[in-house]
Formats: sequence, structure tokens, C-alpha cells
Amino acid sequence: MSVRGWIAAAVALLAWACAAEPLAPLDAGPGDTGAPDLGGPVTGSIDGGGPDTGPADSGTVTGPIPAYPQRPGDPARGYQVLVNGGYVGCGLPYSAYRQVTGPAPQHLRLPGRNTLNADLPYNFTAFVTSSSVTVANPNCFSCHASVLNGQVVVGLGDSRADFTDDQAAAAELAGFLVMDPKERVEWRKWADRIGAIGPYIQTKVIGANPADNLAAALFAHRDQNTLAWSATPLLEPPPTRPTPVDVPPWWRMKKKNAMFYTVAGRGDHARMMMTASVLCVDSVQQARAIDAEFPDVRAYIASLEAPPFPGPIDPTLAAAGEEAFDTYCSRCHGTYGPDGEYPNLVVDLAEVGTDPELAVGAGYYAERFRNWFNGSFYGELAQLVPVTGYLAPPLDGIWATAPYLHNGSVPDLPTLLDPPSRPTYWSRTFDSADYDLSTLGWRYARSTVGQDGEPNATRRARLYDTTLPGYGNGGHNFGARLTPQERMAVIEYLKTL
Ligand code: HEC
Ligand code: HEC
Repeated sequence: MSVRGWIAAAVALLAWACAAEPLAPLDAGPGDTGAPDLGGPVTGSIDGGGPDTGPADSGTVTGPIPAYPQRPGDPARGYQVLVNGGYVGCGLPYSAYRQVTGPAPQHLRLPGRNTLNADLPYNFTAFVTSSSVTVANPNCFSCHASVLNGQVVVGLGDSRADFTDDQAAAAELAGFLVMDPKERVEWRKWADRIGAIGPYIQTKVIGANPADNLAAALFAHRDQNTLAWSATPLLEPPPTRPTPVDVPPWWRMKKKNAMFYTVAGRGDHARMMMTASVLCVDSVQQARAIDAEFPDVRAYIASLEAPPFPGPIDPTLAAAGEEAFDTYCSRCHGTYGPDGEYPNLVVDLAEVGTDPELAVGAGYYAERFRNWFNGSFYGELAQLVPVTGYLAPPLDGIWATAPYLHNGSVPDLPTLLDPPSRPTYWSRTFDSADYDLSTLGWRYARSTVGQDGEPNATRRARLYDTTLPGYGNGGHNFGARLTPQERMAVIEYLKTL
């Protein structure tokens, strides 16, 4: 391969591979227990006492998460910020990006973009930095949009992004494309940041997202008071092995009182989500300017509706499914339709039984990161207050969101609802056309070996191994009580949400 070919491949890698993905910022990772003023972990079982305690499930519900006032915003402006804004703060000089990347195909472009961004793919944004250099960087959509059956779905978590390679090496390599001295300064800054997070964001399998560890690694390099960058970490960095997370769809935020699977994101959601700027924004003043635009971004996200199921639905079967859902599921997941109610309930880890690593706060949930966040500019309005449990999420648009559970360990709904049938080792093609509308999941192949037994690196990166720490597929046995007929009916009903 030519040098240019190498660099192009490296830049594509930074785009975290699959479609045209990017490299980017993060979101906040959680802490342990937390700042009291925004509501600590909810305790006290409400199980058994409620009027809607179904006969079938035995999950102890820890409790509802309270709502917090949110700063109002304009959704249309928020979309503009998301697709054209410079909230990431730094990036690869655009001239270098252009040397190796052509205009994006039409189906990967977004409406409403400015001239600079008109022909970029949905997951990159070009903008002018404070040093007047035009740069391009992955944006929020690098994780929060995806391609399903050939179409970009804004807000759908990308379950195909590839973090199995070393991002830091790719950022370094891109430097060969940058000649102009001013641009080299920008490239160096960006490559340093990627270099600082690179060791902490390498996952075992494509699709697993390391965003929480990414955030923690960046917190470790910033002065808590001034947000100034430090080349050497000021806090002990997170473990190098990130806990895998499946990116949740944005349209859930309409109903959710707290952000993240562990409900760690309390208080002002806009302030919490602008934590993505922690990659490159180096002063409180800069952070404040970005924060001013994020109530609009939050309002946009809260305005998103789940995409309707694109196939036929059997109304009789779906009606039977609704009945079973009301009996076995709605106590935690709520009811749907015009009078639907969503309870915002956290289920204790002991009860839901899914992989514990995220909820017990291994690594980036550690106290030092929670304290850093809560005592920083970000913590003025938002707080990281995780609990040792998982939120029972709203199931709107669930049809599009496989793989399932917070770590994406279960490929489709029939296996989620029939726990013994879940595959221990499974792989998929990562082709967006390989989504099965009958199982509401990815077509997959079972394997008899795990990652240790797979010598081929390409195949290994596609092999989900549920025996690895953090990647477990146990728990959420609430579908086990369903008869095969009820299970089919519930799946039919879920298509209507
Ligand atoms: C590197 C991938 C990545 C990028 C980039 C990213 N996020 Fe996220 N985001 C995640 C992951 C993973 C989660 C779930 C984390 C968890 O629950 O532990 C998440 C969670 C969220 C949530 C909460 C959703 C829910 O249901 O709880 C919101 C809102 C959000 N992100 C907004 C944003 C915004 C706005 C941006 C850009 C400014 C952004 N994110 C950039 C990966 C990313
Ligand atoms: C005791 C409360 C409880 C009951 C009852 C319950 N669930 Fe859940 N459900 C949860 C929790 C908590 C999670 C998140 C677990 C995780 O991600 O680790 C979840 C996750 C899910 C998910 C995956 C969501 C995603 O983003 O991947 C689906 C689908 C689901 N439940 C469907 C059902 C159905 C169908 C039923 C009834 C048969 C049901 N649940 C019963 C608490 C419950």
C-alpha cells in the first residue's frame, strides 16, 4: 500500500470504521454515590406494595428517579448546533482530511448543514477553531446516529462502530498530511488528546462503545478548576480495559429523568451532554460558550420520536402481546400509547442480574472521576450519581436498537426473552442490511469458541464473547415465564412501540 493509502486507511480508522464513522468525545461516566443536592441513590423497595405488581416477575424495583428542571431550548437551533457546531473544539486540519476523503455519498449526508459541511458524512463536522484553522472531527452522531437498511437514523446508537484498533497510532500517522505550521499546531493538539485516550478506549469487539472510559481518561488530564489540559495525568487514569456499552437511542430522553444506564446523569441534562467538549476545550470560558448552546441541543434530543416499525404488524397477535406485556413487563417498562405512563424505575443489580461491571463502577465509575466531575464546571448544574442497578428503559422504537442490554450482549429479542437460548459466542457481519425485522435483531452465527480460541484477528473482532468481564449476557430473566406463543405475541406488540 502507498504511504497515502496507509494514511487514508488510518484516517478511516479514526472514523471508527464501519460506515464513515468518526473519532470523538465522550459522555460522562458515572461515580458511586453522590452529591446530595440532586438526589442520591434511590433506596427503599417499592416492590410488592404497588397496585400493578404483576404475578409473574419477581424483580425488586429500587425506586423511581425524580425529574429535575431543565433549561428550555429551541429544538431547531439545537439541530443546527449538532450538525454544524464546533463543540468538540479541535480536530484534524480539514486540508488533511480532504486529501484522503472524498465527498460523502448522498445517503450519508444530512440536511441543514452549512457550506463547509454540506458534503461531509453525517458523523463528521468541519469548523473553524479559535486559532482560525479549519478542522474536521467526529461529532455526536459518530456514536448517536447509525445506518439502518441504507438510511441514516439520527439518534439511533451506532452498534457498528469499531474501537478495536489503536486510535492514537492513526492520529499520529495523519500528521504526515499536515504541512502548514499553524495547522501542525492544531493537529498536534488533537493528536495529543487522541494519544491520551487511545490506551483506554480499545474494545474487544466491534460495536462495543468505550465512551465512559474515554470521558474518565480526559477528566484525568484536566485541572478540575480551570479545565486546563495537562500532558501528564493529574488523577490515576481509568483501567485500560473499557467496560463495553451499547449506545442508547436518543429518543428515550423524552421520557427519562436521568441520563445513562445507571441513571448517573442527574440534574441539568444539557450540561451533562456538553461534557463531549472535554476532548479539546481548555478553559471554563470556552466551556461556558459551548454550554450556552446546549439547552437547544437538549431540546432537540428531547423532541426526537422513535422511528416507526417499517414492516407489517399482525394486529391480533400484537393485542395479545399487549396483554402479556401488561402482566409481565409494564410494571418496570411502563405503558404506551396516548395514555402511556413511564415510571423511570431503577432495578437493583441483584434483581435484574445483568452484567454487573457497569453498575458496580469498576474503573471510570470510580469515586475520583465522580468527584472530579461534580466539583468542576460541569458539576455546577449536573451531577454524576450512579446507583448499583440499571434503569428499566422506555421501549419506544426498541425494534431498531439491537443488540440488547446495556452491553449489547444479546443479538435479538427471541433470545433476550428466552434466556437459555442466548448465544455464548456470536458474530455478525456488521452489514447494516443484515438486520432482521422478524427477530428485531441482528442476524448472527453462533460460535463454539470464544475470543481466546479464535486465531484470526478479523474474525475475533466480530466475535462477541459473553464470558469476558463486562460482556456477560446473563440476567433479565423476566421473559422466561412467557410461553412460546406469548413470547411471539410480546415481540409483535413491541413492534408497535
Ligand atoms: C464515543 C461515542 C459517543 C459520543 C461521541 C457521544 N456519545 Fe453520548 N453516549 C455514548 C454512550 C456509550 C452513552 C451511554 C453511556 C452510559 O449509559 O453509561 C451515551 C449517552 C448519551 C445520552 C444519554 C442517553 C440515555 O438514554 O441515557 C445523551 C443524551 C447523549 N449521550 C448525548 C450526546 C451528545 C449531545 C453528544 C455530542 C455532544 C454525545 N452524546 C457524544 C456515546 C457517545
Ligand atoms: C423488574 C423490572 C423489569 C421487568 C419486570 C422487565 N424488565 Fe425489561 N429491563 C429491565 C431493566 C432494569 C433493563 C436494563 C437491563 C440492562 O441493560 O442491563 C431491562 C431491559 C430490557 C430490554 C432491553 C433494552 C435495551 O436497551 O437493550 C428489553 C427489550 C426489555 N427489558 C423487555 C422486557 C420485556 C418484554 C419484559 C416482560 C416480559 C420485561 N422487560 C420485564 C427491567 C425489567
